[in-house]
Amino acid sequence: MAGKRTFTMIKPDAVEAGHIGAILEQITASGFKIVALKMTQMATADAQEFYAVHNERPFFGELVEFMTRGPIVAAVLEKENAVEDFRALIGATNPEDAADGTIRKKYAKSVGENAVHGSDSDENAKIEASFHFAGREMF
Ligand code: PPS
Repeated sequence: MAGKRTFTMIKPDAVEAGHIGAILEQITASGFKIVALKMTQMATADAQEFYAVHNERPFFGELVEFMTRGPIVAAVLEKENAVEDFRALIGATNPEDAADGTIRKKYAKSVGENAVHGSDSDENAKIEASFHFAGREMF
């Protein structure tokens, strides 16, 4: 059965461009309830750990540098079928391939600087939420 929670980050490019409010508004207007929320900045070691599954990929260094260059907004979101529905809302990894109206189509610049992260499975949603939030910070 699909889980009810997913994890997201508004990435440094979208924070720098002033899109936090618009993105959170689109998320909540799409039926997701925010059950944890914080602005934070990942250190290099944090990003290397968070994205460890990608550490053999050619863009890994670029990804870590990008994700640590400024603050992010981390959130846990609740909705039926949260992981799949949220990935539909954000659109394809490469904004050129993202559907009209999706968050990445509207706010992402490139496949590297793509505005938002969304967990790709219920299992990873739990791991990623726990990476950023203590139990007492999730409601
Ligand atoms: S996905 O959504 O996990 O299937 O996407 P994937 O293609 O596997 O990419 C995993 C994360 O790596 C980022 N990415 C890149 N960063 C920099 N340069 C390039 N070329 C690049 N390609 C992919 C991508 O944004 C994914 O980050 P997250 O935070 O998981 O969305």
